[in-house]
Amino acid sequence: MHSTSREPSSNQRHLHPKLARTVQRHLKAQSLKPVAPHNVAAFNTLLAELATRPRPLILDSFCGTGHSTATLARHYPGHLVVGIDKSRHRLGRHPHNQSANSLLLQAECEDFWRLLVAAGMGVEQHYLLYPNPWPKAKHLQRRIHGGAGFAWLVQLAAGNPAGSKLPHSPGSVRIELRSNWQTYVEEFGVAMHLAGFPGIVARVSPQSAISLFERKYRDSGHALWAFTATAGRRFSPGGDDLAPGGTAGLTPAGSGRDETAHLG
Ligand SMILES: C[S@@+](CC[C@H](N)C(=O)[O-])C[C@H]1O[C@@H](n2cnc3c(N)ncnc32)[C@H](O)[C@@H]1O
Repeated sequence: MHSTSREPSSNQRHLHPKLARTVQRHLKAQSLKPVAPHNVAAFNTLLAELATRPRPLILDSFCGTGHSTATLARHYPGHLVVGIDKSRHRLGRHPHNQSANSLLLQAECEDFWRLLVAAGMGVEQHYLLYPNPWPKAKHLQRRIHGGAGFAWLVQLAAGNPAGSKLPHSPGSVRIELRSNWQTYVEEFGVAMHLAGFPGIVARVSPQSAISLFERKYRDSGHALWAFTATAGRRFSPGGDDLAPGGTAGLTPAGSGRDETAHLG
């Protein structure tokens, strides 16, 4: 099927000039906004599932229809793969062949990350596939790395070696974010670096699409980008690992690296 989706168009040509300031502000002062009751209810569903059968977790945040959740669950049969999306409508269009080791929950991801952190629970892998790009410069704060919830994502990335309620408590957490907007992925990479978790930004070309948005963008001929990091070891921001220019750990665009294609 031929797709004709438009690429994100933005009045922002490079990394947002307020990116570093915004990220640092959120990392310093965590949001104390109360967690919404429906997100607590979704989290309790997860706890009940794990009480029945404890398994290490893979999180598929912003999962949309959950096609990626289903793919990941098939790929990792020993894990519980949890897809989170706020849209009941999107979740309602999930594939019918969901395997027993997947769970789709309607919740806001930011609250869900916070509940996981508060409960001392870690995840082994965290996927963030094609989040809404919010390409207008004035919408930086709506992007994952520009919002207050980023601090919870970072804490989840730090793992929870002490006191985790899960078996195989993660010594390291693999994070992957994909987008068809290169700037978004680079910004996320810089934000993760500022938080002490440098990774790699690379163009990817999956053979078979992991999610519906990936399929749509790929079939429209868009370039697809991924940030990946294994965040087991926290680097000290500002330490020796920070190269001059502040983008150490980021592979230049078009490096041809394609380490994520095997999942698609
Ligand atoms: C562009 S879609 C991508 C869906 C899916 N990952 C894919 O690749 O097909 C972005 C999704 O993020 C969800 N979303 C946006 N903000 C959210 C939030 N704060 N918490 C949970 N889901 C959210 C939307 O409902 C939507 O399904």
